[in-house]
Amino acid sequence: MPLPKAELHLHIEGTLEPELAFALAARNGVRLPFEDTEELRRAYLFEDLQSFLHLYYALMAVLRTEDDFAELTDGYLARAAAQGVRHAEIFFDPQAHTARGVPLATVVEGIARALDTSEERHGISTRLIMCFLRDQSAASAMETLQAAKPHLHRITAVGLDSAEAGHPPSKFREVYEAAGALGLRKVAHAGEEGPAEYVREALDILGVERIDHGLRCVEDHELVERLARERVPLTLCPLSNVRLKVIDVLEEHPLARMMDAGLLCTVNSDDPAYFGGYVGDTFHAVREALGLTDERLRELARNSFVAAFLEDDEPRRAR
Ligand code: HPA
Ligand code: ZN
Repeated sequence: MPLPKAELHLHIEGTLEPELAFALAARNGVRLPFEDTEELRRAYLFEDLQSFLHLYYALMAVLRTEDDFAELTDGYLARAAAQGVRHAEIFFDPQAHTARGVPLATVVEGIARALDTSEERHGISTRLIMCFLRDQSAASAMETLQAAKPHLHRITAVGLDSAEAGHPPSKFREVYEAAGALGLRKVAHAGEEGPAEYVREALDILGVERIDHGLRCVEDHELVERLARERVPLTLCPLSNVRLKVIDVLEEHPLARMMDAGLLCTVNSDDPAYFGGYVGDTFHAVREALGLTDERLRELARNSFVAAFLEDDEPRRAR
């Protein structure tokens, strides 16, 4: 029996496995620049976040209809359930779809259709987190937030993802203020490729409740102390960090040291179709590479429920 756990850092578009990508391409008459799934898989050698994002956005071309989004999401939930996931908080990237002419309603209703049957079909409770692409303008993020108003009953929180360097959280101050006023909770990617200072900005300027990644906080001792004191959850993604060359090898991942420093760490899969494993695989990999004890693994699983937007619908850290 895999350890029951919550997954808190998962991009639904990053669960698009090569087999489904080709099936949807055929169904929708989209031509992919790869001959077959093997050639596609061979392209999964990334130099950095940007080189991954290039392929991640390109493959999304196959996602066109509500059925496509429902099938993508249900497939993820089935695989996650097999690895012990009991609760999933799922990111989606609306701008990556609306920019291709796919209406926001198609995306949200397709994903939501799968989420609506998730407890019954897979035993997984869910929340949906709408991410803004930080390498797009703040105005575009604000338009996306406005366009999402008819769908807010489906959406728990806003997040911030895509190319981090040069796109600090402060760029999205007004958007996050507006999201908070609409009753949405807040998270943001920070400190993946960007500096520790972006983690501070996400907390102090955006008022986020969790930091996605946050890995580079380890470069700033005072920040680590603050994150530990304030019990700010970090949604770490160790396999992603290796594949995107944020760290060299898994054996050098600071996860164990971060837990020793009192940080509220969780372990997640990020974009599992691209990074070599779902969250159960990730637990297994860190156990092997870092020699984590069973007690440490149970702590990570416990943390995932503590950090989840589960127990109530009120922001935990009012700002
Ligand atoms: N980082 C930033 N943006 C992303 C990622 C990531 O790991 N995956 C999908 N969008
Ligand atoms: Zn991510």
